[in-house]
Order: sequence, then structure tokens, then C-alpha cells
Amino acid sequence: MIYPSSVSPLTSLRVIVAADPAAAAELATTRILTLLHSKPTAALGVATGSTPSPVYRALSRAQLAESLDLSRARAFALDEYVGIDARLPQSYRSVIDAEVTEQLGFQRSHVSVPDGSAADLAAAARDYEAAIDAIGGVDLQILGIGHNGHIGFNEPGSAHDSVTRVVTLTQETREANARFFDDNVELVPQQAMTQGIGTILKARSIVLLAFGAGKAGAVARALEGPIEEASPASALRKHSDVTILLDEAAASMLS
Ligand code: PGA
Repeated sequence: MIYPSSVSPLTSLRVIVAADPAAAAELATTRILTLLHSKPTAALGVATGSTPSPVYRALSRAQLAESLDLSRARAFALDEYVGIDARLPQSYRSVIDAEVTEQLGFQRSHVSVPDGSAADLAAAARDYEAAIDAIGGVDLQILGIGHNGHIGFNEPGSAHDSVTRVVTLTQETREANARFFDDNVELVPQQAMTQGIGTILKARSIVLLAFGAGKAGAVARALEGPIEEASPASALRKHSDVTILLDEAAASMLS
């Protein structure tokens, strides 16, 4: 069951509490399909992690059912670890290759991931930001949220006008991602290259998904706490077209 959407009293942001992650993923997929039908050359901002995976699977099913051609669409990943071999399964390049490029049939040359192995990381970050601008910006950004409120790898304290850059990951984030590294936090890279919060806010529309009680605190702080750098996702309340898709557990601390 899907509850009617409610409009947050503070902002124009829409919060939708779906019965479960699958229902939320279907809603996100409907948004993406609507965009791609009206603009086959659209640019999607794609997140990695556990949260967006059901969206890519639902999109894949819908695409097969509707014979949707994604060969003219583009995708930009949010982030990548610094210093990781892009061929390793834990690299976000590998995850995006499997879940987005191959599963959805994007042209390989139309899918961009920050280059965390570049010899000149600062130049690679500048080039990534410029590449997003050069194609006219992201039309629809899919986001998850970290337990500490991060979006992309913009950890608490990130400036809300930050651009693509190298950041140091918090211990909390490295521990959360250790599950992808044989449960060994020492194997999780210390740094990442991420789109900035300012980069994310340039997207024309944003859909953030969060599932499970573990995200409830971060969601409540982002939506009902102060808009501040200590709360990266709170910056989304400065944007005019944001939809938050939650399951009941992730919504459980909202007043
Ligand atoms: P998750 O990660 O979807 O794997 O929980 C979200 C995030 O850290 O942004």
C-alpha cells in the first residue's frame, strides 16, 4: 500500500512513505520512465549502495516490458573510492557497469564514474564536474543517504556548495561499507572522489530513497533538523524538486 504523498510544511519537498522498498522502487522507476519517455537523451544521476539496487532491477523489468531504448540516455555516478583498482568488484565503476550499464543497456561511453585512480585527482575531479555541465546537467538524480546523513560521499561538514572533489571518509562510513570488503574495515579505502553537494543540487530533480530503521535518524535530521553543514542531506531542502521515498521503518522518526 502506498500512502498519499504529503508536502513537508517547511519546504516544497515531497515525502512519500511506501509500504516497502519494492513499492518505493516502483515509484522511483515510474519517475525515471516518465523522464526517459519524454527525453530519451536524459542524464540520470546514479547512486551505488544497497538502496538503489531495487530501482535498477525494477527499471530493467519495466524496460523489457516497454521495449524502452536507453542507448541515447546518459548516466553519471555520484562517487568512487580513491586508489581502488576499477576492476575490483567493490569499485563503484564495477557496480555501475553491472547494475546500470549492462543491466539497463546504456552505451558504455555514455556512463561516467569519477576516476579515483587518476594520477592527478584534482584535475580528474574538475573534469568530472565539467563533463556534467557540458551535457547540460543531470535531469534526475537518484540518491541514498548514509547513517550519518551523507549524500554521495559528502560527509558531515561538507559545504552545501561543494563541487566534485576528493574527500576523506569517516570511520562510520568505512565501517558501514566494510560489508563489501569481507567485513574488514581496514580494506575500505580512506578516501573517495564524490560529486559535491552543490553538484547534486544542480540536478533538475532529485529522488532520495531510504529504507530500514537504521536510516530513520538520518532521515529525520535531514528533513526536520536544521539546514546545516553537519547534516549533508538537509541541503536538499534548498532544492525545488526533491522527492523522498521511504519505507515505514525509515519514516519512523519523522514527526
Ligand atoms: P546504502 O548506502 O544504500 O548501501 O545504505 C547509502 C549511502 O551510504 O549513501
